[in-house]
Amino acid sequence: MCGIIGYTGEKTATPILINGLKSLEYRGYDSAGIALLENKKFSVIKSKGELKNLIKKTEKENSVSSVGIGHTRWATHGKPDETNAHPHTSSDEMFTVVHNGIIENASVIKKELEKKGFSFASETDTEVIPQLLSYHYDGNISSTMQKAFSSFDGSFAVAFLCRDFPDTIFAARRQSPLIIGRGENESVVASDTCALSENIQEFTCLEDDEFAIIEKGKIEIFSSGLKPINKKFRKIESVAEKHDKCGFEHFMLKEIFEQPEKIKNLLKGKIRNKKVFIDEIAELSLEIIKAEKIYIVGCGSAYHAALAGKFAIEELCGVPVEVDIASEFRYRNPPVKENTPVIVISQSGETADSVAALRLANSKGAFVIGIVNVPGSTIANESDYVIATKAGREVAVATTKGYITQVMALYLFALHIADIRKTIPDRAIEIYTEELCRIPDKISEILSDTSVVENLAEKYYNKNDIFFIGRNTDFAAASEASLKLKEISYINCSAFPAGELKHGTIALIDKGTPVVALCANERLFKKTLSNIEEVVSRGGEILCVTRKNKIISEKYLSIEIPNCSDLFVPILEIIPMQLFSYFIAKKKGCNIDMPKNLAKSVTVE
Ligand code: F6R
Repeated sequence: MCGIIGYTGEKTATPILINGLKSLEYRGYDSAGIALLENKKFSVIKSKGELKNLIKKTEKENSVSSVGIGHTRWATHGKPDETNAHPHTSSDEMFTVVHNGIIENASVIKKELEKKGFSFASETDTEVIPQLLSYHYDGNISSTMQKAFSSFDGSFAVAFLCRDFPDTIFAARRQSPLIIGRGENESVVASDTCALSENIQEFTCLEDDEFAIIEKGKIEIFSSGLKPINKKFRKIESVAEKHDKCGFEHFMLKEIFEQPEKIKNLLKGKIRNKKVFIDEIAELSLEIIKAEKIYIVGCGSAYHAALAGKFAIEELCGVPVEVDIASEFRYRNPPVKENTPVIVISQSGETADSVAALRLANSKGAFVIGIVNVPGSTIANESDYVIATKAGREVAVATTKGYITQVMALYLFALHIADIRKTIPDRAIEIYTEELCRIPDKISEILSDTSVVENLAEKYYNKNDIFFIGRNTDFAAASEASLKLKEISYINCSAFPAGELKHGTIALIDKGTPVVALCANERLFKKTLSNIEEVVSRGGEILCVTRKNKIISEKYLSIEIPNCSDLFVPILEIIPMQLFSYFIAKKKGCNIDMPKNLAKSVTVE
């Protein structure tokens, strides 16, 4: 994770770097820093915590330097304090570096350098980069970069300044994303296009083991063997979506309320003759459509979306679906056969484990379908086909509209494939399709009155532990509900298949233990009800998420959702659960949009 930015041009660098960092704060916000180069000297300003602390510090400085680099950190090595904040500078003050990624052999390199007399100020892996550059530096910057960067194992997107080159930024990349933008008499390097300043007209992506020498409006790119590479630059087409809360108190709430619109957006153009047809996968070969197995991989909420999608695909397409956490998939050598569809789900399209899972699947000859929100991201670029979720920019770290559009994309995928495989009757496809088209209105209905959930937050905000249970599609929603609440409220939450409680976890249920039971799945309702009774008889306090007018018992608190097929239950159940998490976190005074220890884009493994 971490966000990096660099600017060289004719304008004052500090405000450009700060603006870039504002857009990159989603990548980490433990600390931030900038380094400017002026009169052959670095001036480094760093601050612990959110970017606003750095902004306060920079306001006191009056540097007019027009070259600099900046960083917003998500700590991997070393605590999130000012010393460990980037940029990191070599002891001889020749190089200063910002880095995103992990140098896996940093401790070995550090020991070697210490033997040679180098001393280190921070606990970070990053500090070996400026020190090793300084160790190899003999006036020839290209060969110095080549020697230093070939020594590193792991991942890096790096931008650095060298005191001897007053107008130049140097960059290198392996596995972590890095783009370079070019304008008239100015250039920018950044972790993401959203951080490019408005005068930058075109950009290119640095690929693994490429180096760049970046001057005002002039960019040279080299291979690891120092051969010049003629890169294609792409025009920046759209202005980044407005970074505005539009009157909502938090981005998370705004994004929750955007969900009906985002789903409509996703449905647009995909319904033909009362059935689903996804243009992006129109050319899938019959061999792939008729595959005997489908894998779905993702991390966190994307994995939970996969759980919800599995039920729909298995039921509608009659094909077994194996769902895997990307960080597990990538290291377990799964026996994926050639041309087996592997669906990789990712909002950001940059999650390191999901990228690695995709590459592993590719190497086995699988057919990769990306379900991705960010166009132009690594997963979007490297998938064979991409279904774009079109959720727009998601700012809150806890995903809401990103997740829900992933779930919807999987439902649409299931209906598209079912139609071609002829696994269910045409009429059933039409009924399900019609139902999906009504989902946005049903979500709007839930959002039209948030008072029940808001009042419940009052009762739950001071709990230490909350369990979530559900069966089948209810369990998929329970998993996401539990993650949502824990990540923004810091309450210890866990989700279990309702029938699994009795195999151990029920030992934790005591008088007053809060258990949220998701039980909108009609087919399994009675089964889940038995599990609810088991909890109640041990003193547990139940909150049910049920279908409208479903009377369970006067004794239990409940939240109602509109009726829908059992298959589509997660997409509705999660709405009140997102609100439940939001109002609890708000009541606790948590930093809702930027929860502690997290980052929006997880580019380390
Ligand atoms: C939770 C959350 C994370 C992400 C996960 C994968 O609210 O946002 O669990 O879902 O880090 O991220 P993407 O979808 O970008 O690959």
